[in-house]
Amino acid sequence: MTSTMAYGVQIAGVGSAVPSKVLTNADFEKMVDTSDEWIVQRSGIHQRRICDPETESEYTLARDALKRALDDAGIDVGELDLVIHASTTSGFLCPPSAARIAAGVGPTNAGTFDLIAACSGLVYGMNIADTLIRSGRYRNIAVIGCDALSTITDYEDRTLSILFGDAGGAMILTRDDDSERGCIYQTMEGDCSRWDLLYLPTREQDVVEWDKDNPIKIGKLRMRGQEVFKFAVTKFRDVIQEALKQTGLSQEDISQFVCHQSNARIINAAKQKLGLPDEKVHINIQNFGNSSAGSIGVVFDELWQAGKINRGDYVVFVAFGGGLTWASSVWKI
Ligand code: UT7
Repeated sequence: MTSTMAYGVQIAGVGSAVPSKVLTNADFEKMVDTSDEWIVQRSGIHQRRICDPETESEYTLARDALKRALDDAGIDVGELDLVIHASTTSGFLCPPSAARIAAGVGPTNAGTFDLIAACSGLVYGMNIADTLIRSGRYRNIAVIGCDALSTITDYEDRTLSILFGDAGGAMILTRDDDSERGCIYQTMEGDCSRWDLLYLPTREQDVVEWDKDNPIKIGKLRMRGQEVFKFAVTKFRDVIQEALKQTGLSQEDISQFVCHQSNARIINAAKQKLGLPDEKVHINIQNFGNSSAGSIGVVFDELWQAGKINRGDYVVFVAFGGGLTWASSVWKI
């Protein structure tokens, strides 16, 4: 394939998948010392979806989201050049779980790899895919963001378990002759000195200093919630402001700000500070909780299926998470 920057990128199809099992705040009241009022007030969450371990998994969600996105795009899995799968919970180190997911949809010779960037994963994947397609070397790339955090959540830890849910989203990105179409601005950044604020210990020796005296479970997620919260509230706002400044776009020019569903308070704080109207910041955390790499895809799919994303629109994607990582991606659809 030739290499030229003369290409643009279009989002040709979108799909998402959530598990069937609903875990409500009332369910949590029976499991730990908490209340519906506390959870709603601190996070905006009313319920989340979690996998039934007998029939569902990170794999089935990612596979179903990919299939729906391909159907939406009218593209066969065999036409994909690459499948990028962002997840922290695939459970696979070898092969790349992207290979298993793609094969689950149908025969393909696509290149596959997994990407771990915590909740920022899907936006990292979109940025990478856009750059690869623009280079002229690839034509059709599937990007999947999916997590089944229920598999790494300690349901006896009330400070963390109430936040998370399982979900997956996928996008099919394809070459477009209009070079102005696609990602017009992107960032992938981090504060690596704070990697230990949100981590998954898989061995005793991985337990970090602040966690040494806590009753932790190996293989379950650990987070300093308040510190991540404080970081996220300002970072969300700053990342959006910087994206607008660098693109020369105003809030009025943007049709949707697609934000990682971390906590409704975090999103609403940024919304208020920047004066963004409700109809431009879609929030669905009340139904699905925080689904890490899955959340942006589900939000975007809801907007896409509702016909709220149209050709020529400018859309800003923003995510942040463990690492600490954060990413933005401004698209002309
Ligand atoms: O996805 C990207 C990365 N993650 C995030 O963005 C998450 C960021 N953090 C958060 O969303 C919030 O920190 C949480 C929703 C996880 C927690 O909310 P918070 O307002 O930060 O609560 P907290 O952990 O500071 O706890 C406040 C109080 C404590 O009691 P004391 O010490 O003040 O007496 C906790 O023990 O609330 C208590 N508490 C609870 N009470 C009832 C903690 N969890 C619960 C609970 N129910 N589930």
